[in-house]
Amino acid sequence: MNVLRFSDLCAQGKLAGQRVFIRADLNVPLDDQGRITEDTRIRASVPCIREALDAGAAVMVTSHLGRPTEGEFKPADSLAPVAARLGELLGREVPLVSGWTDGVEVAPGQLVLLENCRLNKGEKKNDPALARKMAALCDVYVNDAFGTAHRAEASTYGIAEYAPVACAGPLLDAEIDAITRALRNPKRPLVAIVAGSKVSTKLTILKSLADKVDQLIVGGGIANTFMLAAGLPIGKSLAEPDLLDDARAVIEAMRARGAAVPIPVDVVVAQRFAADAPATVKAAADVAEDDLILDIGPRTAAQLAEQLRQAGTIVWNGPVGVFEFEAFSHGTETIARAIADRDAFSIAGGGDTLAAIAKYGIEERIGYISTGGGAFLEILEGKTLPAFEILARRATA
Ligand code: 3PG
Repeated sequence: MNVLRFSDLCAQGKLAGQRVFIRADLNVPLDDQGRITEDTRIRASVPCIREALDAGAAVMVTSHLGRPTEGEFKPADSLAPVAARLGELLGREVPLVSGWTDGVEVAPGQLVLLENCRLNKGEKKNDPALARKMAALCDVYVNDAFGTAHRAEASTYGIAEYAPVACAGPLLDAEIDAITRALRNPKRPLVAIVAGSKVSTKLTILKSLADKVDQLIVGGGIANTFMLAAGLPIGKSLAEPDLLDDARAVIEAMRARGAAVPIPVDVVVAQRFAADAPATVKAAADVAEDDLILDIGPRTAAQLAEQLRQAGTIVWNGPVGVFEFEAFSHGTETIARAIADRDAFSIAGGGDTLAAIAKYGIEERIGYISTGGGAFLEILEGKTLPAFEILARRATA
């Protein structure tokens, strides 16, 4: 994608003394005490901030945290814990500034964190007046918030229209490069794993991938719907019978291209959805009326692992079973380890997928781990995200 890149501006030495406004995605999970439980997004945002500081810019960074009510500050919505963690990672104090839309005092070589941008009235609706105010704060706007690239909000879209210069940060670059590498010109076979509770939330992705991939491995409730479509019993498992035609259309589209959607040959079932529910392995054809399918079975897992070991490129979104419960985690673990063992380029994204990767300690063995949740999914759907669209428009204007 043709966008102006922040790293190029830095390399050209154009940023000394410039006011740089970085929109990052520092939306990290917090526990009840307001402590950060997972800081990947903060760590992923550090290179851009460091680059700006090293270039001698006056640096403002902002992000949203959660989905607060605009104009109503509550302590739980504050970026204060993020400022503290960022300070630790950068080895310097990171002052947090509130009420910043009318002006920010920051000198070259300094860094300030601007309080939760979703507290500003007009942020979500991309209000042009707010966007213009934010644009007036800076000489250079940098969008490095891949996780929010699918939202057209004042700090992700409008500001990019009005800022003197608008460019993509290194994280945005890296994400788009990794996804392009996986989907545009992949080393074949290209295998995608799309799992989750509902076909309906991932139908567009399934349809879009059905045109591109050589194997489309489905998991979770999605696999149940595909099993039903293949004429298999699924008992009382989660499924969407009204989407059977869509599932059949995906299977047919794949078959017509000589590709396949592997249907489980065995599954792990229980009588109830609970960590301590006794687990039974059954052939897919033997699932009883009162069974709940909570994982793929060992034969299916071994077959899929073998296919993954042959893959040239792997795209992974979603665990194939209820991996949080030990008895139903083996399918996801087998898949995760097969991906990790394979030298193929792999890209993974989505909250549950990242949790599975962390659980099996295979972070280092995945080619690229996306910081995007919804943004990652929308890219897999084949959409052009608003953040990229506006940056590309600015690059050619
Ligand atoms: C996310 O967590 O996926 C991003 O930070 C976007 O958050 P949102 O869904 O509240 O826009």
